[in-house]
Amino acid sequence: MARVLLLGSTGFFGRGVAHKLIDAGHQLRVLVRDPMKAAGFKIRGAQVVVGDALNPAALAQSAQGVEHIISLVAVRRNRPQSFLEVNVDGPRIMAEAAKAAGVRSVLLVSAIGARLDPHYKYLTSRWMGEQELAKSGVAGTILRFSAVLAEEGGFVEAFEQQTSFGPVIVIPGSGQARFQPILREDAARCVVEAISKPELLSTIVELGGPEVVTFESMLDWFIQARGIKKPKMKLPTMLLIPGAMAMEAMLSNPIVTPDEINTLQLDNIADGIDSVSARFGWRPTRPSQWAQENWKKKTRVR
Ligand SMILES: NC(=O)c1ccc[n+]([C@@H]2O[C@H](COP(=O)([O-])OP(=O)(O)OC[C@H]3O[C@@H](n4cnc5c(N)ncnc54)[C@H](OP(=O)(O)O)[C@@H]3O)[C@@H](O)[C@H]2O)c1
Repeated sequence: MARVLLLGSTGFFGRGVAHKLIDAGHQLRVLVRDPMKAAGFKIRGAQVVVGDALNPAALAQSAQGVEHIISLVAVRRNRPQSFLEVNVDGPRIMAEAAKAAGVRSVLLVSAIGARLDPHYKYLTSRWMGEQELAKSGVAGTILRFSAVLAEEGGFVEAFEQQTSFGPVIVIPGSGQARFQPILREDAARCVVEAISKPELLSTIVELGGPEVVTFESMLDWFIQARGIKKPKMKLPTMLLIPGAMAMEAMLSNPIVTPDEINTLQLDNIADGIDSVSARFGWRPTRPSQWAQENWKKKTRVR
């Protein structure tokens, strides 16, 4: 079992990775900004270090004595922290700390679609971050994922917003972009198993679940599970972008940004339908069946 430093453990996906690392018997250290968010790991034996993953000194100190560093630190929006400082400088700072501490490997979680294309600012920042890691010379693996699904957070949170606002459910564009969703449980298992696979070093692996579905299909799973009766309305992106630009300029937390609308029109699929079984030797759960049951609104038990 290994000594692992996890960055981004307090986020939607990182929480799942932290618990999976502990389940697998690894010795976990997390670097967090808010220790209260790490209480669930501390209670299970993780070492909690307080600091910012963008602070080179904090990172250098927390990297001492570990064999692997895993990072799930990223921002989806350019405010309040910028794409450049988090998605681009973050991997560079991590790689420098890894090198100085002599860790065996680093693993960066990224996103399918990462590319150098100024039309897609978020995806460009992820590509630049991957490049920072690659050029650092540190032994590293990059795992890019398609949509990661869980009972709460992530897409569920976005669907909750999308379906609760106004009399109709607005779908930006055609809703026909293809995704290969994977459950957080399975995605976290891939991350944990990847640190013991030296054959993945210096590669970029694109991972997704066992089904290719459209964005609209995933939204339909949510609508059906929650029994929502509102009609759907598809609006061309060119009609939505001006409003999104205005919201982005005026609000600190807009419903949607122009960059998100554009990105949502792109296919988001992995290296083949068997991307997980080909690399890890097991089959991930089918999210279509799982979502019907797990996205129903939970009644509180008193
Ligand atoms: N969610 C998905 O469907 C999905 C799909 C594909 C790939 N991914 C990838 O998975 C990774 C995690 O995504 P997520 O959905 O879990 O995002 P998230 O919930 O927003 O989590 C982001 C994490 O980064 C941390 N962070 C941000 N800025 C930081 C800073 N300056 N210093 C220290 N920590 C900082 C956050 O810490 P705080 O708690 O302190 O804010 C949080 O732990 C990303 O690389 C993302 O691209 C996610």
